[in-house]
Amino acid sequence: MGTAVRELKKIAVHFRPVRGENGNGNFRPENLMDKFVIRGGNPLVGNIRVSGAKNAALPAMAAAILTDEPVVLENIPDVRDIQTERNLLVSMGAEVELGYGRASHRTTISCRNLLNPEAAYELVKTMRASTLVLGPLVARMGRARVSLPGGCAIGARPIDLHIKGLEKLGASITQQHGYIEAAADRLRGGHIAFDRITVTGTEDLMMAAALAEGETLMENCAREPEVADLAALLNKMGAKIEGAGTSTIRIQGVDKLHGARHRIIPDRIEAGTFIIAASLTGGDLNVTNCDPKHLGALLEKLAECGVTVTTNGESVRVTNGHRLKAADVSTEEYPGFPTDMQAQYMALATQAEGTSLITENIFENRFMHAQELLRMGANIKVDGNRAVVRGYTPLSGAAVQCSDLRASASLVIAALVAEGETILDRVYHIDRGYERIEEKLRGAGAQIRRIGEMLPKKAVAPAVMA
Ligand code: EPU
Repeated sequence: MGTAVRELKKIAVHFRPVRGENGNGNFRPENLMDKFVIRGGNPLVGNIRVSGAKNAALPAMAAAILTDEPVVLENIPDVRDIQTERNLLVSMGAEVELGYGRASHRTTISCRNLLNPEAAYELVKTMRASTLVLGPLVARMGRARVSLPGGCAIGARPIDLHIKGLEKLGASITQQHGYIEAAADRLRGGHIAFDRITVTGTEDLMMAAALAEGETLMENCAREPEVADLAALLNKMGAKIEGAGTSTIRIQGVDKLHGARHRIIPDRIEAGTFIIAASLTGGDLNVTNCDPKHLGALLEKLAECGVTVTTNGESVRVTNGHRLKAADVSTEEYPGFPTDMQAQYMALATQAEGTSLITENIFENRFMHAQELLRMGANIKVDGNRAVVRGYTPLSGAAVQCSDLRASASLVIAALVAEGETILDRVYHIDRGYERIEEKLRGAGAQIRRIGEMLPKKAVAPAVMA
């Protein structure tokens, strides 16, 4: 009997299976202690449908603050971060209809009666993207009080560039008691040249500038598809934004924005996660409802590793029946290799023939998955922002812990090819950004199930780290 199985049997008495088949599984309040049990060895075969992009949906929801008319967003993923954002908007006085059923995936947000322009610490500490409300609140209400997010598992992640940018648009900013307070009668256009590329910083300031008086020129902007998607929504709301998706964005401020309906782009990171999983397990998987144009750097890298990938309109087909070849990866801002795919790629590198050098250039502490992969038998040496992965090493199932969203995805992928059973703890991290990942993988032949701990009635749920 493997160690992981023995451990599972010891704790099994405290756990019950979860019936998460209704599409709401991610949102049960008690699921903070859920685990995945994964038995490796099955190839992924068939189709997996990709959900809407979490990182496009979050700024789009914040954009609703900019108007007193309803904003309707479609293809909203059924993940925990979206619920956190809903709670945040509701705490300010917004009305948010959010269908959790599988069919819906739509939210209607009305910020007609916004009363309280504040993002409290309790919410911001669980999700850093809450800071996306800063710009829209100042622009629409003339003031905002937003908690500083504090530390994060993957790096320091300050928001100084958001603050500097808002000052350039005429806001006065003070910082006290752990909160940023920003005020401006009306923001005015300005010239913002980002010192370094920031995704949510670009989005935050683009939203603020949309309602500013006059023209704003933003340089060294993030070029991520999520930025372009937000600009598409804002333009539907009456904004005048040009250049989003390039490094220079020009915005003619308008006096008022109106309601709009918008469909969120597919999640390129979720798609990439399934593509890597299929590359590793072999089989024949069609990843559908995605945009292959957003996956360029990953698909090029996989071709280098010897994976056969074919794209077709809105889907990517992965077939692989042979040993992978090692290839180095260096994370960069879009259109480079995404930091959000680095952890999953590391799982793949453990199964590739040769040595892969993985360099993380965006966040300073994004190798937490390496320690857990070592427990499964990987050969990885981390030195600063570089990891040297020597493959091929067989992996064996073990009890491992999720530390953040993408690290969790990396461990799921590794478990799919490990010999025996893996028990993945703290899957609340994965529930933040992957919609029912276990059901999707199971539908393609993986052996993965969720088990939930019976919390004693008065148990205090652990804090969810951002
Ligand atoms: N940075 C600063 N000052 C700032 C802002 C950023 O120094 O004011 C630094 C950060 O510390 C980091 C780098 O700039 O070293 C890039 O950070 P960025 O601001 O681009 O990250 P983010 O906007 O906070 C988004 C995604 C992340 C993704 C990064 C990088 C959302 C909601 N989050 O974060 O997604 O990793 O861009 O692509 O869009 C995830 O989905 O797992 C995730 C972490």
